Amino acid sequence: MRRPKISIIGAGNVGATCAHWAAAKELGDIVLLDIQNKEKPELHMPRGKALDLACCAPIERFDSRVTGTFDYADIAGSDVVVVTAGMPRKPGMSRDDLIQVNVNIVKNVCEQIRKHAPESIVIVVSNPLDAMVYTAWKVTGFPSHRVMGQAGALDVARFRAFIAMELGVSVEDISALLLGGHGDDMVPLPRLTSVHGIPLTSLMSAEKITACVERAKVGGGEIVKLMGTSAYYAPASGTIQMVEAIVKDKKRIIPSAAYCENEFGVAPGAKGKGYFVGVPALLGSKGVERIVTFDMTPDERKLMDESISHVKDLVGAVQKIFPDLA
Ligand code: NAI
Ligand code: 2OP
Repeated sequence: MRRPKISIIGAGNVGATCAHWAAAKELGDIVLLDIQNKEKPELHMPRGKALDLACCAPIERFDSRVTGTFDYADIAGSDVVVVTAGMPRKPGMSRDDLIQVNVNIVKNVCEQIRKHAPESIVIVVSNPLDAMVYTAWKVTGFPSHRVMGQAGALDVARFRAFIAMELGVSVEDISALLLGGHGDDMVPLPRLTSVHGIPLTSLMSAEKITACVERAKVGGGEIVKLMGTSAYYAPASGTIQMVEAIVKDKKRIIPSAAYCENEFGVAPGAKGKGYFVGVPALLGSKGVERIVTFDMTPDERKLMDESISHVKDLVGAVQKIFPDLA
């Protein structure tokens, strides 16, 4: 039986950690591609990281083949391509400040994906996420169900972790949902959050819930301040949760940046001119197989509309840089 092939573009903090989680879970053969050291013949960063990971296999007992490369020809036949290439933010920067530099990188990377892995499913991680996944969709020309962004898997994990810390219960028992863009205006939904089925609202005071919601919203920034660069363990873990759902055809519902028109009122009636926004997405072997919708309260609707409007502004900024992506 052929093993799934997972290519990761950008072998920096997030990309290499994605490779680590994917190998440890034995999800398939892994290709790590980066351009770092390409100009220095004596160095080969992606090959070095891949070799280091491959040497974990006897200890961690995985049979995934891990290779590193500068050459896009090596991603041919990939089932999933994860895009982590791009600059991370530094203290004081917002994700949006990265748009100018990262849109050029993601455009260049996606031209190569279109050429070398035309049947793949693409998961974008580079920031600002909602604009970069839109860029990937436009540049690859892939059907929208084969392009998605990782943000909600991470953001909801942070929300669940903060609730578990506050209540002193296992994170496994926290079920939560979060919508919207990957900005500080993301929309965690306490009404749809429970602790083993018990509504969160009956276990925690409104003030404490608000504190967990606010901490989840700025969770990325909290880590940037502590480390001087952006997070990578949980972002990679969230990304590999999506990869696993796809390569194992699990039909998991994971908050993901997925293409929406009428769903959640993102762009009603805008045929072919929708946006990628964080929504509950059913992930399986075809990619985003379905978006699971539900009725929001007026307060939730208002927050979602604000978040959608921010996503539209970001996409507008991309279209200003590359009018052909409109
Ligand atoms: P990093 O700097 O450690 O790694 C980025 C890698 O991309 C570098 O190794 C660099 O050489 C490579 N790269 C740059 N241009 C490239 C190109 N044209 N082709 C191939 N590789 C290229 O950064 P880190 O921490 O891994 O973050 C990567 C991106 O992911 C950033 O944009 C960051 O903001 C974003 N991010 C997104 C998250 C999310 O939840 N969506 C969470 C965390 C980070
Ligand atoms: C995060 O949320 C920076 O998007 C990155 O950690």
